[in-house]
Amino acid sequence: MDGTETTATFAAEDLPAGGHPDLVAVRDEDAATIRRLAAELAVGHPAQLTAEPDRRFDDAAFLTAVESSARRMSHRLLERLVGFRLAGSSSGGLVLRGLPLDPALPPTPADGSYRGPVSDLFVSSVTQLMVMSVLGGVVAYADEKDGRLIQDVCPVPGAETRQENTGSTLLELHTEDGFHPSKPDFMSLYCLRGDPRDEARTVVGAVARVLPGLSERCRAALREPQFRIRLSSSFTGGGPARWSAPLPVLSGAAVDPEVCLDLHAMAGLTAEGDEALRELAALMTRSLLAVALRPGDLLIVDNRQAVHGRTAFRPGYDGADRWLRRCYAITDLWRSRGTRFPGSRVHRPL
Ligand SMILES: [Fe+2]
Repeated sequence: MDGTETTATFAAEDLPAGGHPDLVAVRDEDAATIRRLAAELAVGHPAQLTAEPDRRFDDAAFLTAVESSARRMSHRLLERLVGFRLAGSSSGGLVLRGLPLDPALPPTPADGSYRGPVSDLFVSSVTQLMVMSVLGGVVAYADEKDGRLIQDVCPVPGAETRQENTGSTLLELHTEDGFHPSKPDFMSLYCLRGDPRDEARTVVGAVARVLPGLSERCRAALREPQFRIRLSSSFTGGGPARWSAPLPVLSGAAVDPEVCLDLHAMAGLTAEGDEALRELAALMTRSLLAVALRPGDLLIVDNRQAVHGRTAFRPGYDGADRWLRRCYAITDLWRSRGTRFPGSRVHRPL
């Protein structure tokens, strides 16, 4: 997303009380199993404990071991994750509550990037990688956050109004990297530290929930490639604006279409397209589900079924701010082999 201000289409007070994405309470014994698997991975792959911040985890043997270990998580947890991968959820999201965390949490990074010892965050990192490995292949983008497979999401001074992960004003509804030809199929946010003021709400909007309320004309217009998305500033390096190729907002099966939407950076190429976008936005912003992420919560969003955003919050910039970690997965690594670096999960710059 780029760095300009936006007009808010939803507000915290409009969110339904108690309406949240599907939620699974992870049992203590299942969290303990994950902790044990993480400890085994640390012993089996000591090089990961000393890897440079920007190269962490992007190692074929390590990621193979992570995926193999993930299959030894509890049957209960695996069943929910496999079910989400195969059939999604009516909310478009899934929150796993009560996953393991590391014993002592460092201060929230002031500049939006954790550069401390990987051992301090090894348990939470491996937990996120294992869960995402059940959903697909973990990937990243060289243009974004130095191509890290696990990226820090925390407020950065001076970036308050940016429409991206470093901001703290309302973050408009969007498909993650919707402009990218190899956008993630799943996006996850692992909460290490919640918002101390308890103001931030992460919201999820599933297209299936609003489809029946859209006019026939709107639905037809959204299926035409008459929209484009401005590339996020991280992908243009501060250069002139670049736009995606014309694309439709809805594609695929009539009853369960895939959505690609960005209420901040998307524009219609026709008056008909703009009108359809407005109708969809109005309905979508009234059907959002919200979650106040707390430590040990992992929110997974099916990036094909649902869009996400965040309400505004007030950071303190004192090391105690909200700190999430983001990780992506795509269901078919094979399809993006030509656009990633050889032997790496990181996509080349666009
Ligand atoms: Fe996002």
